[in-house]
Amino acid sequence: MHLQLVPWLTAATLCVTLSRMCSSSTLSTISDADKIASLPGQPKVSFSQYAGYITVDEKQQRALFYYFTEAEADPALKPLVLWLNGGPGCSSVGVGAFSEHGPFKPSGDVLLKNDYSWNKEANMLYIESPAGVGFSYSVNNSFYNSVDDKMTGSFSSQITIKRQSRILCNWFEKFPQYRERDLFITGESYAGHYVPQLAKLIVQSKLFNLKGIAIGNPLLEFDTDINSRAEFLWSHGLISDATYESFNTICNFSKIQRQRRSGALTPVCSHVFTEALREISKFVDGYDVTLDVCLSTVFSQSAVLNKLQETQKIDVCVQEETYKYLNRKEVQEALHARLIGISAWTTCSSVLKYEMQNLEIPTVSILGELAKSGIHVLVYSGDQDAAIPLLGTRTIVNNLAKQLGLNTTVPYRVWFKERQVAGWTQVYGDILSFATIRGASHEAPFSQPERSLVLFSSFLGGRPLPGGLLSESAAESNDINIKWS
Ligand SMILES: *[C@@H]1O[C@H](CO)[C@@H](O)[C@H](O)[C@H]1NC(C)=O
Ligand SMILES: *[C@@H]1O[C@H](CO)[C@@H](O)[C@H](O)[C@H]1NC(C)=O
Ligand SMILES: *[C@@H]1O[C@H](CO)[C@@H](O)[C@H](O)[C@H]1NC(C)=O
Repeated sequence: MHLQLVPWLTAATLCVTLSRMCSSSTLSTISDADKIASLPGQPKVSFSQYAGYITVDEKQQRALFYYFTEAEADPALKPLVLWLNGGPGCSSVGVGAFSEHGPFKPSGDVLLKNDYSWNKEANMLYIESPAGVGFSYSVNNSFYNSVDDKMTGSFSSQITIKRQSRILCNWFEKFPQYRERDLFITGESYAGHYVPQLAKLIVQSKLFNLKGIAIGNPLLEFDTDINSRAEFLWSHGLISDATYESFNTICNFSKIQRQRRSGALTPVCSHVFTEALREISKFVDGYDVTLDVCLSTVFSQSAVLNKLQETQKIDVCVQEETYKYLNRKEVQEALHARLIGISAWTTCSSVLKYEMQNLEIPTVSILGELAKSGIHVLVYSGDQDAAIPLLGTRTIVNNLAKQLGLNTTVPYRVWFKERQVAGWTQVYGDILSFATIRGASHEAPFSQPERSLVLFSSFLGGRPLPGGLLSESAAESNDINIKWS
């Protein structure tokens, strides 16, 4: 609904603007200059990787950095997937590519091959956006403040989207062979704002072959999402009955967030919040309440004392490893990356001033519009995340299905990775899907890479999530195999 407030978003303007942006054709293969010979410390691989800049505004010398990895096998037969991280202001390259589902994960001086990389299923494009995030830059750095500008402030996330659709056009000029390819747009967290809005823009422009979107632990509706934290924390034993009661009767999470944003936390809300933080403790990561934390980020001096256990499969310090890796000079050279106006690459921008009021813009209705126009919508939740818990997300998707009059086509049921339950799922009208990933964090592919890859693969293939043992057990008996005592 809020999109009506943005005049340039009318279909007519869009088509004109977007086609103009996409029409200038280039004959030479400019992508060659962006081809990565090899990343420092990487194992030998057979697929191609590219990285470099896409100019968004020549006059202001503003450009976005991208990393593109072709599919491990048969790239010409696989779809193109754009991945965007949220924040706002966090890097899709540092988080998405190097800590979640890219082909490699940094470990010390080397890159380890990720066996569950999403480029097994697709050609993966990661873009750092907007300018000011990661290696993306604006030489006229007053741009960074203008995202916060009163005039454009309340629409700045849409403005970001406008730049993203433009950047997609410019990217296709470098990679024209992908222009007609099946396209999927994916992302997580605050990308619950970027992905639907960008998808809507593309649907209206009719320019690319958009098939579906997938968003993980997305911010869709501020109050519902943020207030579901209390029940999640309470039901997982992280806060006491008394504190849960306070969230329900005295001051809830959305009120606390609003007050903190405006810099005026009332004593009453401050008390509830402080008590919750004390109970949760700083030794638990709110983005995954069961996973171990990277202790060096909690106590910098204890990093050496608390080396990861040998048996641990997930490197909980991967974001720190990525930070070190992407700040090596030879890595930046291999990636064709430059540091413009900053002294180091950071996971989340240190220069961008984002209009935080935008967090309150609901994007769930856009999911409805997309589903109605035949775009597959998958909303998934890492079920250990307390930041944007599955509880709020599931309610939002359920309500959306009701509003759209979409009947359940796959009733709420478990899904499998091999012979273990990998989560729960429900599908509405064969177009809108909800799924949880069992044991997964806010950044689901980071902590549950295998299960996330199954979800990703089913989503791209338009297949229901694997029913696994359900079919076997149905043949055997109907007994529910749970012993409650
Ligand atoms: C730099 O950007 C700001 C805001 O985006 C703009 O007002 C200003 O004119 C720009 N400066 C130059 C030299 O182009
Ligand atoms: C949160 O608190 C605000 C302000 O007191 C209230 O308007 C809102 O209904 C509450 N939301 C929930 C979900 O409790
Ligand atoms: C949804 O289910 C209702 C009740 O069973 C039925 O009347 C309606 O036709 C169904 N809608 C669709 C689109 O299948």
